[in-house]
Amino acid sequence: MSYENIKFPSGSRFLVTGGAGFIGSNIVEALLNMGHFVRVLDNLSTGKIENIEGFMSNENFEFINGDIRDIEICQNECKDIEYVLHQAAWGSVPKSIELPDLYEDINIKGTLNMMIASRDNKVKRFVYASSSSVYGDDANLPKKEGKEGNPLSPYAITKKVNELYGKVFNDLYNLETIGMRYFNVFGRRQNPNSYYSAVIPKFISLLLKDQSPTINGDGEQSRDFTYIDNVIEANLKACLAPKKACGKSYNIAYGGRVTLNQLYYTLQKLLDKDINPIYGCDRKGDIRHSNADISRAKEFLEYNPVYNFEDGIIKTIDWYKENI
Ligand SMILES: NC(=O)c1ccc[n+]([C@@H]2O[C@H](COP(=O)([O-])OP(=O)(O)OC[C@H]3O[C@@H](n4cnc5c(N)ncnc54)[C@H](O)[C@@H]3O)[C@@H](O)[C@H]2O)c1
Repeated sequence: MSYENIKFPSGSRFLVTGGAGFIGSNIVEALLNMGHFVRVLDNLSTGKIENIEGFMSNENFEFINGDIRDIEICQNECKDIEYVLHQAAWGSVPKSIELPDLYEDINIKGTLNMMIASRDNKVKRFVYASSSSVYGDDANLPKKEGKEGNPLSPYAITKKVNELYGKVFNDLYNLETIGMRYFNVFGRRQNPNSYYSAVIPKFISLLLKDQSPTINGDGEQSRDFTYIDNVIEANLKACLAPKKACGKSYNIAYGGRVTLNQLYYTLQKLLDKDINPIYGCDRKGDIRHSNADISRAKEFLEYNPVYNFEDGIIKTIDWYKENI
């Protein structure tokens, strides 16, 4: 693991919102393995109880089935918490185009509630999920913090607003905030079954069932696919980074670039399948290429991701083979 040497004082207390989801449940598992207390606040809207069932018997684990749109719940669940790792949000770009008002409520108002509750309860640090989507229509590569374009979707707007609030809460209210601009995270427990699922779990699960995945567009669009264990490392390091790291957002990626066609043929080879993909239409609101400059996270958070795309994809395939 890339985070086994990260040490918190014993008895540290964490709140993970969205802890029944893909990224959240992996962070929760790492923290429990380190022996810390973890409370999860999740309304199970896109997350699944199966993701956290295995933790229920751990005396350091607490699950609150609640909604971040309810400020009273946020206030209650931030009590006696030192670190908030805020992952709860709706994540799909196409769905945000259908339902912008819902995204405003959950992603913007819900995050604002969590910042208010963290401030009022004197939480030591508030680390929150942002997204590479904040780079919007800026075509420059690699993506570098400070060079953002205009958002291309309601989802991207919500993450941009989260970052603006993050900076203001850091500067005005002394809530130490750090934004994590995740780039296409993948790994164990990512949901393959929704229409809005990310490509990697969707492609793996279809290929395992001998079905043809659909690639949107010509497949030459590229992404900085980032293995989940790198993301766990980044979150833990963000909790412990010096104060000068706060009030900023960081690219959290590996720093590589793989096209959807390359991804597809890698999966086909590793799964030993000979199935042609179907090519569909381009997706609205998507950027063409994405590749992160991670030097800021390296400098301020000492983030040093160890899993490249190939390492991560092999581990991910092994997990889906056993769990689908
Ligand atoms: N997965 C990625 O590649 C990626 C990339 C960029 C940013 N992000 C961000 O990372 C975070 C986690 O994403 P994920 O991939 O784990 O998604 P996920 O859908 O698996 O997890 C999100 C969790 O939040 C919960 N949730 C949603 N609305 C809620 C509400 N109103 N109250 C309480 N809980 C609520 C869901 O039930 C779910 O368990 C999100 O903020 C997402 O926008 C993810």
